[in-house]
Amino acid sequence: MPSPLEGRRIVLGVTGSIACFKAVDLASKLTQAGAAVDVVLTRGATNFLTPLTFGSITHGPVVTDVYDPQSELSMDHIAMAERADVIVIAPAAANTIAKLAWGFADDALTTTVLASQAPVIVAPAMDANMYEHAATQENVEKLRERGVVIAGPAQGRMASGLVGRGRMVEPAEIIELTKIALGKNGAMAGRKIVVSAGGTEEPLDPVRVIANRSSGKMGFAIAEAARDRGASAVIVSAPTALPDPVGVRVVKVGTALQMRDAVFAECRDADALVMAAAVADWRPVTAAVQKMKKGESDTWTIELTKNPDILAEASGDQLVKVGFAAESEDLLENAQAKLIDKGLHLIAANDITSPGSGFAVDTNKVVLLDREGGVEELPLMSKYDVGCRLLDRVERLLGR
Ligand code: PMT
Repeated sequence: MPSPLEGRRIVLGVTGSIACFKAVDLASKLTQAGAAVDVVLTRGATNFLTPLTFGSITHGPVVTDVYDPQSELSMDHIAMAERADVIVIAPAAANTIAKLAWGFADDALTTTVLASQAPVIVAPAMDANMYEHAATQENVEKLRERGVVIAGPAQGRMASGLVGRGRMVEPAEIIELTKIALGKNGAMAGRKIVVSAGGTEEPLDPVRVIANRSSGKMGFAIAEAARDRGASAVIVSAPTALPDPVGVRVVKVGTALQMRDAVFAECRDADALVMAAAVADWRPVTAAVQKMKKGESDTWTIELTKNPDILAEASGDQLVKVGFAAESEDLLENAQAKLIDKGLHLIAANDITSPGSGFAVDTNKVVLLDREGGVEELPLMSKYDVGCRLLDRVERLLGR
């Protein structure tokens, strides 16, 4: 599956800030993801880096001067503005932010922004006092009200040695915001997709839990893929080590009962529920209030009671229900039974014995089964790509 950045045209504006070095990494990551990057450097930026630095990475045009007779694009910067799918300004210094807020067009970057209708992402980077200054705050607010996405800035140590808010956010976060901007009017715009992720934990006492090996990667990847096609994506997540994805709301839960309550609440106004979580089928009848002591006995008998089946019970107006079945034998038969028993539209039969598939890895191998008897076997692919293929099917179900 192509990356959401594949073949998209991005104008990367770089202004004079020591954070310029991060823009080189950003240009590289965008290019590697398949985007065509047109770089515009302000005069300030050229004090830190040269056009050659960016041109060597993007293999595309680098514009520094609207009036440069050597550059075809500088003379025709309107064309560059018009062909942009998104404009990213990173790092954005206070001066450029002020010029953008007031509509100046006195250099190649501000002219390009004014001449373009593409969405704009601005990643401020400056001294903390400059950022907190009332003038900068007003300018940033003005841009935000106009629909410009303001990325950061982050809190931390500045080049000056001072600590405060003014650090440019990391390129990885800007890449995610770029994908969101590109997918805003995508096929799932206006849809709400709820995804469960991770393995629930059932407490035995304040220290110990019954858990499983789910890392949450599959569910998180589906939510990111939904976000990238314009959906409002919500993850109901059991404990995981993963960072919250940019632009996705994450509701954190622990036990299966908590997951049920959160999933039901989120599904009230959702279009689809995708349960990628590994929900504990059983929980201890009682959890000890104090930590259990080893004592004299060599055994510990725990009485378990069944957890509710969240997916089977979930309901909503026209809710599309999608399940996963992690199986180590009789893959299709077991998945088929779950598809019917839980009243699903679609189930991903997940062969956890196949190398590179199942728990904790970045790839997965699934077979999609639908209630009409359709069987679609997918090759081993990244979990994000599995999410895309699954959402293609959800999209069709929503369009019924
Ligand atoms: O998180 P990762 O490390 O990336 O791993 C991904 C995964 C292997 C956990 C995932 O791809 C997967 O297969 N999830 C389903 C795990 C499972 O075994 O489900 P199940 O066969 O127990 O249940 C079938 C379906 O019913 C699942 O969608 C499950 O979320 C849901 N269920 C199960 C029990 C329960 N009490 N309530 C439920 O809603």
